[in-house]
Amino acid sequence: PEPGWTVEADVVVVGSGVAGLTVALRHAELRPQAKVLVVTKDVLGSGSTQWAQGGIAAVLDPADSPEEHLNDTLVAGVGLCDSRAVRTMVTEGPQALRRLMERGARFDRASDGRLELTREGGHRRHRIVHAGGDATGAEVQRALVAALRAQGIEVIEHALVLDLLKDAQGRAAGVTLHVMGEGARDGVGAVHAPAVVLATGGMGQVYQSTTNPLVSTGDGVALALRAGAVVRDLEFVQFHPTVLWLGEDATGQQPLISEAVRGEGAFLVDEEGNRFMQDVHELAELAPRDVVAKAIMRQPGQVYLDGRHFGEDKWRRRFPTIYAVCLEHGLDPARQTVPVVPAAHYASGGVRTDLRGRTSIEGLYACGEVACTGVHGANRLASNSLLEGLVFAERIAQDLSAVRREPAAPKAGEGLFDPRIRPRIQAHMSGGAGVLRSHESLLRTARALRDARWTPVQVRPCTEAWEATNLLTVASVLTAAAVAREETRGSHWREDHAERDDDRWLGHLDVTLTEEGL
Ligand code: SIN
Repeated sequence: PEPGWTVEADVVVVGSGVAGLTVALRHAELRPQAKVLVVTKDVLGSGSTQWAQGGIAAVLDPADSPEEHLNDTLVAGVGLCDSRAVRTMVTEGPQALRRLMERGARFDRASDGRLELTREGGHRRHRIVHAGGDATGAEVQRALVAALRAQGIEVIEHALVLDLLKDAQGRAAGVTLHVMGEGARDGVGAVHAPAVVLATGGMGQVYQSTTNPLVSTGDGVALALRAGAVVRDLEFVQFHPTVLWLGEDATGQQPLISEAVRGEGAFLVDEEGNRFMQDVHELAELAPRDVVAKAIMRQPGQVYLDGRHFGEDKWRRRFPTIYAVCLEHGLDPARQTVPVVPAAHYASGGVRTDLRGRTSIEGLYACGEVACTGVHGANRLASNSLLEGLVFAERIAQDLSAVRREPAAPKAGEGLFDPRIRPRIQAHMSGGAGVLRSHESLLRTARALRDARWTPVQVRPCTEAWEATNLLTVASVLTAAAVAREETRGSHWREDHAERDDDRWLGHLDVTLTEEGL
């Protein structure tokens, strides 16, 4: 549809989690005369950041070193990390974290005033800062939203991003939006801006069961694909080993049980109460996530988390969110073992960027989970995601420049899908392209997704229809990449190609959509 209204800005930031808000705040500090506009699909901060529990990994202990953080990250990424990107993140991380604290974020401290540091899977050192025990993301989000308001940066809420606007040379020139219930800016409109920063988060909602909130529908990756940008490593979806098991039919966002619970000494046990991770990996319960998720899937029966030895006080003080959620579901983790299961958690791939957050389209940047900077490779190391968002947001904020561009007429859209296909996409993805995959299961999924494209319905443009359309786009590309990668590596687990194959697959799958398809 034709835009009914237009806003001019120097920079438009799409998304309001740690990545988007840090870009906006830093750019506004560096160039106070620039007009920075934040647009966000729901209300400020309703994305994944606020749900983060474990924390932010950063080298703060004098006994630790960036080299060790780099090594742990590279090991978790199973040969596919870009070591320059990882080095950038681990060396610039502590400074980015300090800036976040200057903006008002308060992290847990020991009685001597030093930051408390914990461990999570794959980390050989204590290097994870946390807030409110297990409510790190909520504190980060609170602090950033408060700073944004204090700085007076303009925000449009309830604004679903539709497509990238380009100028005649194919450079980014803004975005189109569908805004609901925001007065003069209601309906479809356009932001003209020579710099567009995608910070739209992840795509966990392509699966039936995920730790991601309902808004994580891959909107940024779908936009980038439609715009012709290069997208990388979509087959690497990380499954968090431990969400609370709520029964076979549990769908949607699931309660996360932070890896920090294992970092503080809880065990994984089988139905007989026996620990099994010691036989699987030298780090036992703190092996990298893909290793733990696979070991759980291989257990013949239900797996439980045993943190009874913490006692009630520690549960209440250190993990108040998780403790409350368990109680809500009738389980007391200070007295009972807690049933757990893996669920989709994080897209390690995304829109390919360089070290300045630039994508393959001039003027289009990507930051946070929507991006593939190269720091995660085939499997993200725990608590590196908020860190990545902070570090690369600072870099993007410095790189942004505002040379005015004239948007060309937008290309006609392809039509929208019926929102009712959403649960079908999720069922097919979980059934055939989830934690366990094979050529056969992936082809079945690919066929089902292709069939969904022919569902002949007239759809009224609305957020739900756009989300279903975006989910179908990213699910199709993710599945195609998973079919192509005939090996097992990191979070991509192929039953029919059980081994890692460095001769053929020590590289990336870059995807671009053209008129002809992939
Ligand atoms: C967790 O707390 O286990 C999640 C942290 C992360 O995904 O990095």
